[in-house]
Amino acid sequence: MSNTHERDPLFQYDDPIFADERLLEITHLPGPDRIVGRDDEMKSVAEALNPAIFGSQPSHLFIFGKTGTGKSLISRSVTERVVSEASNDGVNVKYAFIDCGEQNTEAAIVKTIGQKINEPETSGVSIPDRGLGTGDYYKRLWNCIDACTDVTLVILDEIDMLEDDEVLRKLSRAGENRRISESSIGIIGISNKIDYPDQLSERVKSSLSRDELVFPPYDANQLVDILDKRKDAFHDGVVTDDVIPLTSALAAQEHGDARKAIDILRNAGRLAKKQGDANVKERHVRAAKEKTEADRFSELIAGSPQQAKAILYALTILTENSTQDEFPTKIIYKQYQQVARKVDLDSLSERRVQEILQEQNFLNVIQSEREGRGRGKGSHAKHRLLEDPEIVKKVLLQDSRLGELAS
Ligand SMILES: Nc1ncnc2c1ncn2[C@@H]1O[C@H](COP(=O)(O)OP(=O)(O)OP(=O)(O)O)[C@@H](O)[C@H]1O
Ligand SMILES: [Mg+2]
Repeated sequence: MSNTHERDPLFQYDDPIFADERLLEITHLPGPDRIVGRDDEMKSVAEALNPAIFGSQPSHLFIFGKTGTGKSLISRSVTERVVSEASNDGVNVKYAFIDCGEQNTEAAIVKTIGQKINEPETSGVSIPDRGLGTGDYYKRLWNCIDACTDVTLVILDEIDMLEDDEVLRKLSRAGENRRISESSIGIIGISNKIDYPDQLSERVKSSLSRDELVFPPYDANQLVDILDKRKDAFHDGVVTDDVIPLTSALAAQEHGDARKAIDILRNAGRLAKKQGDANVKERHVRAAKEKTEADRFSELIAGSPQQAKAILYALTILTENSTQDEFPTKIIYKQYQQVARKVDLDSLSERRVQEILQEQNFLNVIQSEREGRGRGKGSHAKHRLLEDPEIVKKVLLQDSRLGELAS
């Protein structure tokens, strides 16, 4: 590329803050030397997948953990290492990484795996974008797996978003049922809902034997290490000394969340740039934290099912109209029934509402505390919104159905 042309002064060419901002993007896959604090978890994942290196059947694996604990990163990173290690020995491992938040139907998943691993010259089949029934997509998938791979690894990220778990049963039974004969399939399911296996159908529960892992949150020191390894996203000397420790401490406040730490650092850099400052400083970090939390929060809520939103809305109304901020399930349930009626949503049972509150609790949208010596996590729990009700309300009213409540 020649640089002799006159540059249009409308655009900025030299970034004063970032040397390579992409290192801080969430889709960036850091190399093994930039991954810190997950040695045990990597070993466990590697252990489950190890047989794939010899072309044998790996163990299926479910990984749980709160947001930003490295589940997606570690699964992807170890899988890529398996693929490359296997290829050294002439074993052909392929993998498909599927975000079930985007692809949540059986047909879409089967099609995506097929498209990811297919080599039409080898398999003799094509996997068209549309036009085949689910059964035909399966047939072609088995064909591709046998023809193009020794082992196929299927990573199902956010697996709790699956519409129907039949695909898990078919994939895990494919060898046994002689759908494939030359190859094997390993499934890695990832979720931040630790109780996800409870919601599996009995058929899947009994057919899918698997290992399970839980990734713990990071502590502030681990977050410091993670951020230090990404510091070359910035030009030398741009990030002042207190920035990384402060970012890490802020991101460790609720639970050690690496996603949040990286987001705050990137937003702090963008802010410094926007304000024309030469350095990223403490005040940028504090402002970036506010922004990061608001963004993250609207993302979390926006991705929740409508029923969960209606329940959160009920809790928001209660919070707004009261001097207290904690409410028992029963009260929230009454308010929820009114909301559901107003927007014409089927009313769930109190028990189900309790379960959804529990899930939102796990996602750090609300905080739930058990009262007294109440047994288990039952209906004696009290729930509190963790964010400003005004912000929550604004986000909730963006929903197509709940939006009706705005007028
Ligand atoms: N141990 C680590 N070393 C370096 N970077 C990390 C580490 N753990 C996480 N990260 C980075 O933090 C971000 C979040 O990690 P990841 O997406 O794997 O989290 P997750 O557990 O899948 O979260 P979620 O449940 O929200 O999907 C990514 O940008 C990832 O690269
Ligand atoms: Mg993830």
